[in-house]
Amino acid sequence: MRKRFNVAVVGASGMVGGELLGLLESRRFPVGEFYPFNSGKKPAAVRFKGKKYACLKPSFAALKKADLVFFVSTDEVSGRFAPGLAAAGVWCIDDSSRFRMSPGVPLVIPEVNGGELRPSKKLIAGPNCTITGAAVALAAIHRRLRVTELRLATYQAVSGAGRSAMLQLEAELKAYFKKGAVPEVSGRFPRPIAFNLFPQVGGFDGGGHSAEENKVEAELKKIWKSPGLRISCTAVRVPVLRGHSLAVWARTARPWTLGALKKILSGTPGLKFSADPCKYPAPLSHGNRTSEVYAGRLRAAKTSPNEFQLWVVSDNLYKGAALNSMQIAERILVFKGGDE
Ligand SMILES: NC(=O)c1ccc[n+]([C@@H]2O[C@H](COP(=O)([O-])OP(=O)(O)OC[C@H]3O[C@@H](n4cnc5c(N)ncnc54)[C@H](OP(=O)(O)O)[C@@H]3O)[C@@H](O)[C@H]2O)c1
Repeated sequence: MRKRFNVAVVGASGMVGGELLGLLESRRFPVGEFYPFNSGKKPAAVRFKGKKYACLKPSFAALKKADLVFFVSTDEVSGRFAPGLAAAGVWCIDDSSRFRMSPGVPLVIPEVNGGELRPSKKLIAGPNCTITGAAVALAAIHRRLRVTELRLATYQAVSGAGRSAMLQLEAELKAYFKKGAVPEVSGRFPRPIAFNLFPQVGGFDGGGHSAEENKVEAELKKIWKSPGLRISCTAVRVPVLRGHSLAVWARTARPWTLGALKKILSGTPGLKFSADPCKYPAPLSHGNRTSEVYAGRLRAAKTSPNEFQLWVVSDNLYKGAALNSMQIAERILVFKGGDE
């Protein structure tokens, strides 16, 4: 009989939590007991394998009953529970940003650096949903040609900011069609988002860089183990429901031909690359419950030698969060042994 894992999901009522529950079912993860948690501020129930479960407020004792805990709630909650649980031998996969940059915590995208997973490292972080697309798409090029400089402009969907942000866009759109104007609502975002966009994802530091821009830079350097990589990013929120897009300029140490780049991109694990300039990916078709990262519009940049441009799209809720965590969990199964 296949070994079963008792699984807890902290944040089961949220956007990522909902996707995770679907993936646990559709990918037939061997779940024994199932424990969903939410903030406990309001009653919430989730459906899993045809059964309705009430979400509870998490406690250490309740979480410790699990073999594996997915943290898809907040930095604070992950910080409060994950280290103690990991020390007690419970696998913790954390989608918050709380431990991504902590030394000793692997920051993992399985097809890029899955080799960093170890039976002894029970606490594992998943990266920011924005950098995942670039980290996957450019991984093989970086290995072969060494990317030295990366410039990114991001076009980030509202679901990246959680359910309340999705609801804000929907409310603004409804108000516009009812009243003919987008209301100045005080919501999840610094500006109205319907028919709008703004270059702010998170707060700004003293140098004027946003929190998201700083995360992208720090996390990619860690995932690629490339502290010398130079990255600059402008992170932009756009009124797309789901799917983050990136305009990428990458400069490599070694020279290339476009033919060689196409060949590398076509063989990059986790990436679907289109060499046809008209067949570029877009969030509605390629960022909605899609498992792969998509790239197109490859061309030589006109600015510097060895620099090329690429357009990348990925599903922030799947590969950017829930699916990536699921893929980490599937690798952990191998450590635990698939059969008993
Ligand atoms: N959205 C993305 O694209 C994305 C991508 C990568 C990583 N992440 C990370 O994944 C996490 C979840 O994001 P999300 O988009 O799913 O957010 P969300 O839709 O706002 O959901 C948040 C979930 O966390 C729960 N929660 C909040 N406070 C809690 C507490 N004190 N104790 C237990 N549960 C609590 C919420 O429960 P209630 O329903 O009771 O409030 C809800 O279930 C965040 O850390 C986020 O940074 C998100």
